[in-house]
Amino acid sequence: MRNNMGGGYSGSGDGSNRTYGGYLGLHELLSLQRDEEGVSNDEMHFIVTHQTFELWFKQVIRELREIRDILDSKHVQESQVPKAVEHLGRVTEIFRLMASQWKVMETLTPQGFLAFRDGLGTASGFESYQMREMEIILGLEPVGRVSEMDPLGHFRKLAKRSEADAAALVRLEAALEETTLVSALTAWLERTPIMGSFYGSDGDTAAVEAYVSAHLAAYANIGVETCSRMEAQGVENIEAVKARFAAANQGANDFLKPDGVVNRARAGLLFIESYRELPLLAWPRVLIDAVVELEESMVLFRTHHARMVERIIGRRVGTGGSSGVDYLDATTKYRIFGDLWGVRTILLKPELRPTLLNGEIYGFAGDESQ
Ligand code: HEM
Repeated sequence: MRNNMGGGYSGSGDGSNRTYGGYLGLHELLSLQRDEEGVSNDEMHFIVTHQTFELWFKQVIRELREIRDILDSKHVQESQVPKAVEHLGRVTEIFRLMASQWKVMETLTPQGFLAFRDGLGTASGFESYQMREMEIILGLEPVGRVSEMDPLGHFRKLAKRSEADAAALVRLEAALEETTLVSALTAWLERTPIMGSFYGSDGDTAAVEAYVSAHLAAYANIGVETCSRMEAQGVENIEAVKARFAAANQGANDFLKPDGVVNRARAGLLFIESYRELPLLAWPRVLIDAVVELEESMVLFRTHHARMVERIIGRRVGTGGSSGVDYLDATTKYRIFGDLWGVRTILLKPELRPTLLNGEIYGFAGDESQ
């Protein structure tokens, strides 16, 4: 391993020469805040806060690849799922920490920021290639972004400025070639045994189709019963309510059977969420919860960034040229794991679920793969 500085870190050494500063690369790290340029206290705070975020981004990128690699396998061993959950938990905590870290930024007053803002030129967090790398590894598609923005567009222009910027572009291009976390998760969900039927087995298509149809019928029935109850009570605008339920049914159909064909990954997800109490589904549901928690923490991170920005620069145009707060608020709508959120809309209370078939498969079984 690289030896950073005299007496520094060497993973292969015995550590006897190691110093705290050397191990952490502190001398280098603490020389990167522009003291020699005589920056003001406020500007130093601005720089340190950004650098701290970027350090966390670096760690998050490592964690996300680790989680993706665990899930990106034809047979995810049960013993590996808790590991993925642990890493997800760490990323969530980092995002929570970062979401509250905006408070430190908010100690910068609007006037205090204006005092050095011009010096930033067009530099903006918009140019954070680590932020884009995180999004790419997670699986945020251009179509899901504000104005269907190409995440690399801006970095192609920046790449002409310096070797380091060119290297950042290469890094992002390479990330785009990787399996995303959302697609690894989707492939894993697709293999969920549904009503005891295994992915790819004889009769699986029919078994899954029967399960999905039974669920959709029970879901539609809720609307029918609710509407007749409301009609009996003389609720006004009953036609509007009926139309709302009809749209909800159509939404449930489109979710589970896009283009009329069952989406097995979504059916698997529905099955896990519906029969959460089954022992064999315990870890899968913990994993799903952990992913939802991660995305929620990211959304809150984005939301708090927008509020901090609104407080400091109001509705000004951003240094990167975007609409500023409006742009940042629009990014809070991003949902990379849309299916995990969407399935919640169509869940049924336990007594309305289709009767479980082949329940013994989901009992307390040992993991034969270990
Ligand atoms: C006074 C403090 C800050 C202000 C006023 C501010 C303002 C903005 C604005 C207006 C944008 C939209 C792009 C643009 O037009 O520039 C933006 C984007 C961004 N900022 Fe900040 N920001 C601040 C601090 C930070 C800090 C400390 C970080 C931590 C790394 C950060 C990270 C980002 C990122 C990653 C984006 C891109 C968001 C996206 O495209 O999804 N910002 N910021």
